[in-house]
Amino acid sequence: MLKKNMPVAEPYKIKMVEPLTMTTREYREDKIKTAHYNTFLLKSNDVYIDLLTDSGTAAMSEYQWAGMMLGDESYAGSKNFYVLEQAVNKYYGYEYVLPTHQGRGAEHIISKLLITPGDYVPGNMYFTTTRAHQELAGATFVDVIIDEAHDSNSMHPFKGNVDLVKFEKLVQKVGATKVPYLNLQACVNMAGGQPFSLENIRAVHEFCQVHGIKIILDATRCLENAWFIKQRENEHAHRSIAEILREICSYTDGCTMSGKKDLLVNIGGFLAVRDPKIYEKACELGTLFEGLHTYGGMAGRDMEAMARGLEEAIKEEHLNQRIGQVHYLANKIQEYGVPIVLPVGGHAVYLDAARMLPHLSQDEYPAQSLASALYVETGVRAMERGIVSAGRDKTTGLNNYPKLELVRLTIPRRVYTNSHMDVVAYGVGLCQERHHKIRGLEMVYEPENMRFFQARFDLAPKKHKTKADNQFSAAKSIVANLSPSLH
Ligand code: F0G
Repeated sequence: MLKKNMPVAEPYKIKMVEPLTMTTREYREDKIKTAHYNTFLLKSNDVYIDLLTDSGTAAMSEYQWAGMMLGDESYAGSKNFYVLEQAVNKYYGYEYVLPTHQGRGAEHIISKLLITPGDYVPGNMYFTTTRAHQELAGATFVDVIIDEAHDSNSMHPFKGNVDLVKFEKLVQKVGATKVPYLNLQACVNMAGGQPFSLENIRAVHEFCQVHGIKIILDATRCLENAWFIKQRENEHAHRSIAEILREICSYTDGCTMSGKKDLLVNIGGFLAVRDPKIYEKACELGTLFEGLHTYGGMAGRDMEAMARGLEEAIKEEHLNQRIGQVHYLANKIQEYGVPIVLPVGGHAVYLDAARMLPHLSQDEYPAQSLASALYVETGVRAMERGIVSAGRDKTTGLNNYPKLELVRLTIPRRVYTNSHMDVVAYGVGLCQERHHKIRGLEMVYEPENMRFFQARFDLAPKKHKTKADNQFSAAKSIVANLSPSLH
């Protein structure tokens, strides 16, 4: 019997290929040691399938590459800037557009412009660079995402939603004048790529209107968020992605954008706003920190590629395949009995390292250990999203202990085929089967900021085994033998 629906295949064919490096387990053992058990410190040449990030890793189309040849590298008024500006006006609906070298450039500018030291910036969970810029500008970040976002078992379809009760409590406590804006992230990265609903953003907008609080959208993965709204909010099932995107943006005062994700380019971003006064100020800062307001740290050709990327990325057939591939990988991994964050988000599959490695305490960096082990087993590179990424509390200096200890398998857009996904799932299954052999780590070098990028680790000293430990391992190996076979 044929399945009811036609399978979803890539809506493109491959014109140019990039060979991959195949390595041995011994080779990778040596490389991960040299990289101090931090996958960010590996050389990409030593990686087989690179799922470190979906940021700047997309494959551009022939249409985008052709656009690169039309680059106008004039210092001021490049024609490609106007193409980009028009595309942003058309699809996102913001009038004023300031290119930046990437997303964090836009975050830097908007934080500096809107925050007065002592302010509070609520957000539906933090993102590392976004929060860092808010803090640098003197604000305290306050998490107002719904509780379900912190629960890897919750099947809530919109785990990226803002909890209006939490938000209101903050406003009552500190006063609306201390809250310059809500930072609203689309497809919340640290929660597993979880979307917000249109219903939620409508309610949030109403609340913000009453209190005179702006909404700044982190639109980095907003096309993917719009796709989830179409899939999961029945009343919007008949609408186009473009229509849903326009409506989302209509409730916000501006956006920061990392074009390196949704927009299918390797570099670039922008800040877009409605208020001409904010735009004028942003141009001043942009010129200081990024580049003149018509290039802002981007080459003309890169602006052209980003505008063309937007035209392609908004197509439903692209999003069906892109998010479909993430879900394909998730299903394969689940076949091996591996716990992941559910429901599966838009850009990555998140392994629940705390549940996969119950023999490690959070201070032994289970997610970091699992990411290292996955590289050694298969050459697949992933990244930690747990205690290392969460950093330290800026006032107490103590480690933040996030509820989730995750490894992110992030899928670059249009780069790998589903055969690669089969290999990745197999590698994760191997780690699950051998989980009791995965050792914890200790941090031997810790940078002050964004420590996950540069931190160095060593294997944690072997624990002295007690009788109880031995009984525990015996019980575990019985469980391991029950898990689905990998061969
Ligand atoms: N906002 C979100 C939600 C992001 O995921 C990122 C980057 C940024 C802002 C910053 O943009 O890198 O262009 O400066 N995320 C990357 C990642 C680094 O791997 O998730 P950027």
